[in-house]
Amino acid sequence: MRAQTVISPVEATDRFPAQAANDSAPTDIPALIDFIVERYRRTHLRELPDAIRLARQVEQLHAADPDCPLGLADHLGALAVELEAHQWREETTLSPMLRIGTTNCLAFVARRMMDDHVQLEMQVMALQGFTRRFRPSFEAPFCWQALSVLCRKLESDLREHAQLEHEIL
Ligand SMILES: [Fe+2]
Repeated sequence: MRAQTVISPVEATDRFPAQAANDSAPTDIPALIDFIVERYRRTHLRELPDAIRLARQVEQLHAADPDCPLGLADHLGALAVELEAHQWREETTLSPMLRIGTTNCLAFVARRMMDDHVQLEMQVMALQGFTRRFRPSFEAPFCWQALSVLCRKLESDLREHAQLEHEIL
């Protein structure tokens, strides 16, 4: 039985609501773009390889466990490829257009970014399925708990990133 005084890493992340980062986002568009690049895009690229490594470790060490998230590493790998392509499109098209304030083709480019976000949201929803909604059993080893924390943070960051960009557009 789970002791009430023990806090899992997943519960710990619940204490930091998703909107906390958004509350600190600048309102000026160039500054907001810089904020999104540093707080979200760079963070995604830095943390996804760690999540993939942990997922491979969990899959190798705990394959016999019926709750083992088999296939999660490959899913995260595919998500990383899709996210990197999305961020490249944002940084080479959308962000420069917003910085100079042009409206030429903006609707077309913005539509593409929104479509990307819909695809990424579907990937995040699939991520929840692999990880029992980011809540491993209390007995799960540390690497598994850490993997769930990273995946939960990835979900939260991806949604905040999309929400902030939708507010700009
Ligand atoms: Fe985006």
